[in-house]
Amino acid sequence: MTSDNSNHYPRPLIEQADLEAKIGELAAAVTRDYRDSERLVAIGVLKGSVFFLVDLLKRVDLAPLEVDFFQTSSYGAATEPGEVKILKDVDVSVRGADVLLIEDIVDTGYTLRTILDLLRFRKAKSVRLCTLLDKPSRRKVDVPIDYCGFQIEDLFVVGYGLDYNERFRNLPYIGVYEGEIR
Ligand code: IMP
Ligand code: MG
Repeated sequence: MTSDNSNHYPRPLIEQADLEAKIGELAAAVTRDYRDSERLVAIGVLKGSVFFLVDLLKRVDLAPLEVDFFQTSSYGAATEPGEVKILKDVDVSVRGADVLLIEDIVDTGYTLRTILDLLRFRKAKSVRLCTLLDKPSRRKVDVPIDYCGFQIEDLFVVGYGLDYNERFRNLPYIGVYEGEIR
């Protein structure tokens, strides 16, 4: 047993019922907006977006769409801030496709900026961004958010896919991690 508080459950910030209600609204908006799309590719950013992506896409009522993933990480503190490493690329070609990018949280914006530029370079027909959470006070680069679940204060949150050192992703709600961070 450890004596720190890392085994405590994080303080709830957004409860499961509120997540479900919001995801229903987002799914309805996505269904409406992509009704006429000829090819929709939903792309999640691993690993944080997985819980959100699954719950969202199960409720999107459209003809078969494609699902794929990027995985990214920031470089260490020794490099330029904002440099993002692509650890896993998408398997499919996005050329000419409508892309819906799905993220857990937009913080500085560096991750999404990098991915948006890449998708544009590869000539996606359209790219929209859907994020569960947005921390606008932390933004360093501008990213246009088309579908947003909740705006939150500058708090370190975990659960529902979001982690602290790979832990807490399985919590069914969003909580505030109050131990030592970063
Ligand atoms: P950005 O590139 O700074 O926008 O960071 C995006 C990534 O940082 C997210 O996809 C998360 O993986 C991570 N992140 C940012 N804020 C939090 C947080 O409060 N909790 C957990 N992960 C976070
Ligand atoms: Mg992430």
